[in-house]
Amino acid sequence: MSAKEEKPMICLDVQRGVGDGPTHVQRYELPVGAAQSLLDGLRWVRENVDPTLAVRYSCINANACKECMVVLDGKVVYACMARMQPGATHSVEPLPNKARIRDLVSEIAPVKERLGSSDEDDD
Ligand code: FES
Repeated sequence: MSAKEEKPMICLDVQRGVGDGPTHVQRYELPVGAAQSLLDGLRWVRENVDPTLAVRYSCINANACKECMVVLDGKVVYACMARMQPGATHSVEPLPNKARIRDLVSEIAPVKERLGSSDEDDD
């Protein structure tokens, strides 16, 4: 490989923050071939670059748990099904209509199913 040939990369501009706090965009670069799906790419980032990046998923690629929803380039997607484009820069954000917990993790459980929530006074 000559010096001019560089391995293609994929850039992920990930919106990060905690709760209602400040938001910033952090860029992660991963080599093409490191991952096929967006979720695999985010998991690659966690394993190889930044273990603090918060992402929710459960089934990884079965499209069964529905927990990996994020916004990719302005569209709501299942991260485990969405594909990244070699050489592209993708924006990745948490769901816009849900409360952000941290980074790409949004509050998706119905209110009654949330830990610590109670609609009834048990006293
Ligand atoms: S990880 Fe379960 S649907 Fe995407």
